[in-house]
Amino acid sequence: MVDADGNRYVDLTAGFGVALIGHGHPAVVEAIQKQADVLLHALGDLYPSSVKIELLERLCALSPWPEARAMLSLSGTDAVTAALKTAVMATGRPGVVAFEGGYHGLSYGPLAVSGFAERFRAPFDRQLNSHVHFARWPDTDDAVDRALRSLPNDWSEIGALIIEPIQGRAGVRVPPRGFLNELGKRCRQHGVVLIADEIFTGLGRCGAWWRSVQDGLIPDVICVGKALGGGLPVSACIARKEVMHAWGDPDREAIHTATFYGDPLGAAAALATLDVIEKERLVALSETRGEAFAQALERASLRGVSEIRQVGTMLGLQFEAELGALRVTRALLERGYLVLPAGEHADVVQLVPPVTLSQARFNDFVDALGQVLKAAP
Ligand SMILES: Cc1ncc(COP(=O)(O)O)c(C=O)c1O
Repeated sequence: MVDADGNRYVDLTAGFGVALIGHGHPAVVEAIQKQADVLLHALGDLYPSSVKIELLERLCALSPWPEARAMLSLSGTDAVTAALKTAVMATGRPGVVAFEGGYHGLSYGPLAVSGFAERFRAPFDRQLNSHVHFARWPDTDDAVDRALRSLPNDWSEIGALIIEPIQGRAGVRVPPRGFLNELGKRCRQHGVVLIADEIFTGLGRCGAWWRSVQDGLIPDVICVGKALGGGLPVSACIARKEVMHAWGDPDREAIHTATFYGDPLGAAAALATLDVIEKERLVALSETRGEAFAQALERASLRGVSEIRQVGTMLGLQFEAELGALRVTRALLERGYLVLPAGEHADVVQLVPPVTLSQARFNDFVDALGQVLKAAP
């Protein structure tokens, strides 16, 4: 990356997780250019373009269900809104179980189910869905029972449970194995639609197409965004066919849509991105490269880092001190590395580089990080 002043950086944030396949991949750029020659805008739901239909079919084929249906949109927050509405259509119930620390976007529907940092919600609190039950997040094996006990006693008004399979913005918080599967059982028992927010974790970021499935959970709805458009704003809500059918006859007026949803340019970019992920075998690469990145970090015995969390190329460095990540982020910026602070108390440095980042570049980054931490007061 080159900034407005001409300084060069290695981007270990992949632009908030978007550039999973790298920034400006030539195959994506070419697909956008070709599509721009053909058609920039179509009549979304009314007369969809062929690329939109192709993308919907492709996403359904990637889903973990024998038959799926999908809705396209522009942002992660759009995809989560569609998922929450789908759950209401399917169950008729307004309640949602969400998790402390969860981040699902900032428009009204997703904000109401985001447990991350009270400061995001506080000014709007009185306008948010009041039927949201926040459960505890288990960071360790001992915390699983407590998290399960914090689920609602009465599920009669609950229509959806929404979860990030790994909490990203809250600091790459990985739940213990078995927790997601247990939630799946509870949801089935109570007829609740389980929404996996895979906007950050999906499409290979965690070394699998879907982190929820990799971790033993088959959800009912999957939200995908960020990396999907290869740099253009494209997102989707994909669901089991039976759940999505609750919207009724698709030939009737669409009661959830927006002018630019499923635009041809974004659809072409997304199809090219999915091709790249498949052709370059990036899902498997994410797994092996992520492990090698974590090993390089472990070997460096980084001062002030109490834990290294890693699943695929989603990594979090836990700092002992609150706000520790802010100073490190600034110091790394001066050395030409882009990283992001995460965690409610900015005590985690989040590393979500393009899957294609070379080991040599990553090793140089680890050296720079080591120097920054050694120089800390
Ligand atoms: C897990 C998750 N869900 C939803 C969102 C919201 O996506 P967007 O910022 O595209 O609205 C994000 C963004 O960081 C996210 O990480």
